[in-house]
Amino acid sequence: MTQAGGRPAVATEAVDPRDPRGLRSDAPLLDAWLRFTEQAQAGLMTPMAVPGHKQRQDLTGAVTGGDAPLYGALDTIKHADVLLADAEDRAARLWGADWCRFSVAGSTHGNQALALAVGSPGQEVIVTRCLHRSLLLGLVLAGLRPVWVQPERHPSGLPAAVAVGTVREALASHPGACAVFLGDPSYVGTTGDLAGHARAAHEAGVPLIVDAAWAAHLGFHPGLPPHAIAAGADAMVTSAHKALPAYTQGALVLARTGRLDPARLDRAFEATHTTSPAGTITASIDAARALLARDGTALCARLLRLAAAARQRLAGVPGVGVLDGAGVEPTKLVVLLAGAGAHGNAVEADLIAAGMPVEMADRDTIIPILTIADDETAVDRFTEVLVAAIERHRGAPRRPVPSPAWTVTPQMALPPREAFFAPNETVGADAAAGRISAELVAPYPPGVPVLAPGEIITAEALAALRAAQAEGGRIAYAADPTLATFQVITAAR
Ligand SMILES: Cc1ncc(COP(=O)(O)O)c(C=O)c1O
Repeated sequence: MTQAGGRPAVATEAVDPRDPRGLRSDAPLLDAWLRFTEQAQAGLMTPMAVPGHKQRQDLTGAVTGGDAPLYGALDTIKHADVLLADAEDRAARLWGADWCRFSVAGSTHGNQALALAVGSPGQEVIVTRCLHRSLLLGLVLAGLRPVWVQPERHPSGLPAAVAVGTVREALASHPGACAVFLGDPSYVGTTGDLAGHARAAHEAGVPLIVDAAWAAHLGFHPGLPPHAIAAGADAMVTSAHKALPAYTQGALVLARTGRLDPARLDRAFEATHTTSPAGTITASIDAARALLARDGTALCARLLRLAAAARQRLAGVPGVGVLDGAGVEPTKLVVLLAGAGAHGNAVEADLIAAGMPVEMADRDTIIPILTIADDETAVDRFTEVLVAAIERHRGAPRRPVPSPAWTVTPQMALPPREAFFAPNETVGADAAAGRISAELVAPYPPGVPVLAPGEIITAEALAALRAAQAEGGRIAYAADPTLATFQVITAAR
């Protein structure tokens, strides 16, 4: 049979617009979500259970549309765990892990769960000082005492990975340490020798745990670094909502159970997770996993191509740099502006006005996030708008000043947990220098603390925080975000 025009007719299966790639056959939570929401939209449900919106949109409007809890919607409260376990099992197999849980509370929750999964209060752990604030609060929750290791410095001034030798030295001088916690890739996409770190940790008899929040796509194309589990880590947390097409807050916690106890991992995970996980979020993690399993290589190939093209275009703009080369995750674009003299916040404002918000902007840096959801049109357009904005704000080249998040040299006076619960008082900024911080203070993004509970508030830290704020940076988690006052541990009388 031929169509008019002589082309052979192709028998096409009807595409389900709600599941255009046909992922549901390999995604039990997605399948359940599609079934439930179809029934709800058809008005076939009169739920006498939470959520309180009862699938109506005539009260608070469309904002609750598509919301379906895991328990009681995706399946009965008595059976939903079976579906969830099936979906988590499929993810564990895809990442080569023995254990996997889906979190609806981001890598924030995953980091805290993993901190609660090792050792006991008072024990030491080796931790990168380039850590996200969520892991620092994990140390508070778990009562673990950090032995800080500092990352190397990339020639741009941004943080590189922690050297394996640095971790080996820390393990040798702290033989009681019960785990190594690293972040890889870093917020700026720098990556290190995770296999070497795994060897170092395992030779010392402890697990390697990796915050891979930005790296859910790693390992799915030969042009990308392997993911942390493949490199030998014992556990990793990754945000499905960052690198994959999943709902905001969706994250995966994955582990191998040779050095970590699966029952303890479960207890730690449940300790701080909601009892009412959003089925919509968990189903979207399941769908993203099914997509990666089937089309991951092709989608990552496109992402690699798009990132390479954007890198090349941006590197051709006078004065503009892009982090590149060995030790940089190839799909991460970190655009360096100092040589072009443009202020990152002004460039960001133009991008927002053009409907293109980016992940991070400070005076000297712009970090857009490219994912497997981007295509040529989007990335080409973004790159041109970015170049035009840089040209509009071009100025005299200047020396870059790295965010204080990257330059902090902590002086720990008390372990984080002790400081968190210690009596504290509020003092003026000038009186704060030399005192012990009771609070965590971090420019956000990137959310790496400049001050952590228990650390001495140094004049350098104060000056760097003020400078970041004066350049338009957001200072988060401080009780007084104007930095006029600080919360410090009450001095002994
Ligand atoms: C390195 C790192 N870890 C953890 C997190 C927390 O991730 P989430 O927003 O998924 O809770 C972030 C957030 O940006 C991060 O940058």
